[in-house]
Amino acid sequence: MLKIAVLVSGGGTNLQAIIDAVETGTISNTKIEVVISNNKNAHALERARQKGIEALCISPKDYESRAEFNKEFLEKLNTYEVDLVVLAGFLVVIPEEMIAKYRNRIINIHPSLIPSFCGTGYYGLKVHEAALARGVKLTGATVHFVDEGTDTGPIILQKAVAVEPEDTPEILQRRVMEQAEWKILPEAINLIANGKVSVENGHVKIGG
Ligand code: GAR
Repeated sequence: MLKIAVLVSGGGTNLQAIIDAVETGTISNTKIEVVISNNKNAHALERARQKGIEALCISPKDYESRAEFNKEFLEKLNTYEVDLVVLAGFLVVIPEEMIAKYRNRIINIHPSLIPSFCGTGYYGLKVHEAALARGVKLTGATVHFVDEGTDTGPIILQKAVAVEPEDTPEILQRRVMEQAEWKILPEAINLIANGKVSVENGHVKIGG
């Protein structure tokens, strides 16, 4: 059984997709141990509690220094002894100590086709604003392992989504979620839970 922690900052639609996929069996062999948010008002926490999943908040704002927060954050996560950490719209930089301890065991969903529209400053609606500003005809979403860079880790899955002429950032964001994010994030977790994902020379191999 793959034990996972899901880290969230906002509405939690990706968390909901994971919860639903575990319930329906689209994700097998997996248990959500805990949902952690940096924002106590995140609706995602409510979604977890409604399903009886442990949900807690740990915020940098409650600590005197980032170093102190990072230490507490790692210690708190460690208590759940999870096999995989899923960043589902989590907008806090992951401490380097956490990346080192959970090497190739942290995955992130990003709302573009990496390496387009990613890196520092590209999150949430900003990604879709940038895609529309550039005039791309295709965008999408990417699930990748988290390394020390921003959106630079090995890519696990990607799915393309068409941009339509009348799109606003909000409309495009919703389409990317519906057609890509809510599908490939559960799919990636299911592949990992069933031993189908390995990393070799910095690249992901699927199968086996
Ligand atoms: C999602 O679109 C996710 O891809 C994005 O934040 C949104 C969270 O929505 N993540 C990033 O931009 C990370 N760089 P949700 O809370 O409804 O799942």
